[in-house]
Amino acid sequence: MYRTHTCGELSASHIGSEVTLAGWIQTIRKFGSINFIDLRDRYGITQLLLGENLTDQLASQPLGREFVIQVQGKVIERTNKNPQLPTGDIEIDVTSYTILNKAITPPFTIQDDTDGGDDLRMKFRYLDLRRQAVRKNLELRYAVNRSARNYLHENHFIDIETPFLIKSTPEGARDFVVPSRMNGGQFYALPQSPQTFKQLLMVSGYDRYYQIVKCFRDEDLRADRQPEFTQIDCEMSFVEQEDILQMFEGLVKRIFKDVKGIDYTDKVARMTWNDAMLQYGNDKPDIRFGLKLANLKTIFEAQSGDASAKAMFEAAGFKVFNDAETVLAISIPGCSEYSRKQTDELTEWVKRPQIGMNGLVFIKCNTDGSFKSSVDKFFTEEQLKQLAGICGAQTGDLILLLAGREERTRKAASELRLYMGERLGFRKKDDFKLLWVLDFPLFEYAEEENRWVARHHPFTSPKPDQIPVMIGNDPVIKDAANYLSHPYANIKANAYDMVLNGNEIGGGSIRIFQRELQEKMFAALGMSPEEAQQKFGFLLGAFEYGAPPHGGIAFGFDRLCSILGGSESIRDFIAFPKNNSGRDVMLDAPSAIDEKQLEELSIKLRN
Ligand code: AMO
Repeated sequence: MYRTHTCGELSASHIGSEVTLAGWIQTIRKFGSINFIDLRDRYGITQLLLGENLTDQLASQPLGREFVIQVQGKVIERTNKNPQLPTGDIEIDVTSYTILNKAITPPFTIQDDTDGGDDLRMKFRYLDLRRQAVRKNLELRYAVNRSARNYLHENHFIDIETPFLIKSTPEGARDFVVPSRMNGGQFYALPQSPQTFKQLLMVSGYDRYYQIVKCFRDEDLRADRQPEFTQIDCEMSFVEQEDILQMFEGLVKRIFKDVKGIDYTDKVARMTWNDAMLQYGNDKPDIRFGLKLANLKTIFEAQSGDASAKAMFEAAGFKVFNDAETVLAISIPGCSEYSRKQTDELTEWVKRPQIGMNGLVFIKCNTDGSFKSSVDKFFTEEQLKQLAGICGAQTGDLILLLAGREERTRKAASELRLYMGERLGFRKKDDFKLLWVLDFPLFEYAEEENRWVARHHPFTSPKPDQIPVMIGNDPVIKDAANYLSHPYANIKANAYDMVLNGNEIGGGSIRIFQRELQEKMFAALGMSPEEAQQKFGFLLGAFEYGAPPHGGIAFGFDRLCSILGGSESIRDFIAFPKNNSGRDVMLDAPSAIDEKQLEELSIKLRN
């Protein structure tokens, strides 16, 4: 028997017992002829005391960091107790030890605050995984997995596996492809999601399906994106949007409860896509705090009664505002006393290439009732007061204003809002706020190709009352300059995203389940009937054999774990992740393959 106990298990109640432990040496501390060793395994750390009785053995069989050893000894009470450690009341008075395997010096210290940089830790990920911080992340991931499975099982979902070697599924990214040896010159695509399969399972009558499944997308990587990632993928038949929202907010609440001990009893907030874009400049707003955007131009237009405000705005002769497509304001409470240095800092922040604004205007609504701004040259104090009123600002607020092209300004304002939220401590990691974003547009306009693209994916149904609009109109955009007046531009999707603290953690929709509507959708996306048949004939065919109404959702499993674990990066929650260039630096993949393999696959490289 290698061990009687783990390194996380022994406490004062074991004092006097003879035990055998096995694990890795985390640290060795020498005090004269006595050595203290921290022995580590998955369960914790136990302090070993190696006294004079072992001096000879230590001389002939020296120990080192990360050696795997087995020790026998007696549990004794520690003189220097460590209340931070579950095993901190005891230590083992070692009578003998065996080296099970030696270790060369690891390239970084295997401790929570390691000295290893990212690349080094990824190259030696098997060592990095020994660190407690990483282990805790993987344990959390497993807890989320188990909780989700339990909930879905209790709700009669069944886990059905779907294939990885398939034909393209359009989720908006590039496919990873796999060449076929047996079918020379032909390729499989790895699934971007099991979307079409889960819909086919509905046609087959498996009315509640789930799978915790790998998805593969060749897209630009960020902290919250990996080329292969995991979804909790679900689909249900005979459901409307409301059924799905209820079922899956139940899932997330259950995960909160099981994994974090949080009773999320509030109703999950809901917001239309339109409101999200207007008030937060973003389709995944972080609603843990306010700081909503005010759009000065639309306010002026809407408040035609307040003509004097508009006239003032224009008469001030401030070109930056007058020439801008949009002017967005955020009122930051309690910041009117920001120093010159602080406002300059914010200006530099919005000028960074990632944000891309030319500058920032501010108005201070001072606590003594006065107003001061960076554009005092253009606006009188009375006018500043009027502007502050229009922005809904209060005494003590600092109003930040961005002006410019519509889309860039909106994105910049959204980023600035998040940045200020962060600076002011409104984005606490242990404060969780869920939100459903609803009523997305079904289509987006692709200017270069003068056609529609599906915002979500091509299997998403329009809102029921808008199906006739879709069926009854020709999708072709004849007047590109006025694409917004095309009837398709206003069709809303029967789709929903779940947002947690400003992150999209899941998305789904009620699906199209009739051939005619699905064909119309493919036509809108610029596919000829032949192309639609060639790519999705299997699905169109299935819809003719009795397809039930259905809908579903997929959660980004890695993202959900990282948010619950309080980390920005999903890599921390994946045992063997890729780096930002999509490489596995440990395996050194991707890599070239031999000429012989290429030949078997009928592949000739271009260079
Ligand atoms: P969607 O494309 O919105 O929907 O994906 C669902 C969720 O998966 C997560 N996600 C990612 N996580 C890590 N790395 C990535 N590269 C990545 N891409 C997406 C996000 C996202 O919300 N088939 C549909 C679902 C459906 O309609 O039922 C789909 O895949 O958290």
